[in-house]
Amino acid sequence: MQQKAQVSLSGILMVKGTTYNNMSQVGKDENLHGTLLAQNLIGVTHDHFITFYLDMDIDGPNNSFVKVHMTKQESSPGESPRRSFIKLNRDVAKTEKDAQIKLNLYDPSEFHVVNPARLSKVGNPSGYKIVPSANAASLLDPTDPPQLRSGFTNNQIWVTPYSRHEEWAGGLFAYQSRGDDTLAVWSDRNRPIENKDIVAWYTLGFHHIPCQEDYPIMPSVESSFDLKPVNFFEKNPILGAAPYFENDLHVCDTSATV
Ligand SMILES: *[C@@H]1O[C@H](CO)[C@@H](O)[C@H](O)[C@H]1NC(C)=O
Ligand SMILES: *[C@@H]1O[C@H](CO)[C@@H](O)[C@H](O)[C@H]1NC(C)=O
Repeated sequence: MQQKAQVSLSGILMVKGTTYNNMSQVGKDENLHGTLLAQNLIGVTHDHFITFYLDMDIDGPNNSFVKVHMTKQESSPGESPRRSFIKLNRDVAKTEKDAQIKLNLYDPSEFHVVNPARLSKVGNPSGYKIVPSANAASLLDPTDPPQLRSGFTNNQIWVTPYSRHEEWAGGLFAYQSRGDDTLAVWSDRNRPIENKDIVAWYTLGFHHIPCQEDYPIMPSVESSFDLKPVNFFEKNPILGAAPYFENDLHVCDTSATV
């Protein structure tokens, strides 16, 4: 019912050489672009981005992307001892630019992919929501060559109409490209996406400021996102599931021999 996509990063750290062997030699305002990890070795500050291609078909091919936007509604003076409430606006994305999402803790939304033609008993559209977890956004200038090439990191969520030519967020030939065949370029065409066969893209990012514990081989760094049903079932579907009995469970037996 619920899907969690989890990413774990490990491996050998990216390092560069230096003449320094102690932080006491480094000037206060000097930019090492990283952390001195060992004598003559700097772990370079860098980012990682992973983009997930989510070819959504909720109860059929024609779906819409809905940003359920939460805002503060203030009460008028004298109306109530309460000063503020949470208000929901359901903004259905008409075209691709409406679905270029930058995550923001202080301007929160839920992100639903729904089938507007499939309603529940009480009239809510059948859907799944994309639930972000820890994430990171690129700090590079949008016109910087590496950022043009990885334009798919400009937003954390994108929605495009399905096209079999648009499968790889960085384009077919990412390496040394000029960034003219990326998700960012396709999405800026601003095509209609309401009630259509759509693809959602989720970009998961990590900033990595190396530390000594990452050297010489890294412990893992993790993040994830979830796809969860939202008004897809009439009620909690687990209530209808067959109960577990003792024999369904894996029982650890201290006397078991291998
Ligand atoms: C690095 O510099 C600090 C401060 O000067 C000093 O206390 C420390 O012993 C130095 N470490 C090495 C390995 O030289
Ligand atoms: C999806 O929408 C298209 C028009 O955009 C329509 O031709 C097609 O019949 C729809 N498919 C379904 C299964 O509703």
